[in-house]
Amino acid sequence: RYEKWWLTFGISALIIFLSIVGIQAFHQGHKPPSAKAFVDPERVNESEPFTKPGLHKVQGKEWDYELVIVAAAFSFTPGEIEIPKGAKVKIIATTKDVVHGFEIAGTNVNMMLEPGYISEYVTTFSKTGEFLIICNEYCGTGHHMMSARIKVV
Ligand code: CUA
Repeated sequence: RYEKWWLTFGISALIIFLSIVGIQAFHQGHKPPSAKAFVDPERVNESEPFTKPGLHKVQGKEWDYELVIVAAAFSFTPGEIEIPKGAKVKIIATTKDVVHGFEIAGTNVNMMLEPGYISEYVTTFSKTGEFLIICNEYCGTGHHMMSARIKVV
């Protein structure tokens, strides 16, 4: 008798557990942690703010600049960025094809870019120098060559 009870209990627990995992997965989808909004990956070039990749001065916001980045196998657009020292910058990035990484080497900026999502991160560039943006998610044969440069001046 006990065995039957335990079996029922075990199966019920398993079903409850699986439901919870399923519901969580459904709600979170594949959304990367830094993702704040959606964009059609096939219409990135026509979608704001990706119509104008690059650094833009903004007014009346908590940050001074917005840095718009489009990733695609195997490059970042723009590939060279100049940022004034001390600038507080909101990085806004997405990918046109597969999952890419966006890491600024030597800083704590590290985002995952997933097609369909806009990833954002606000950071202050307080040190002058050259910083390398690298892709840290394997994205294909050109993965190891995928990079861009930030010059803080
Ligand atoms: Cu893009 Cu690896």
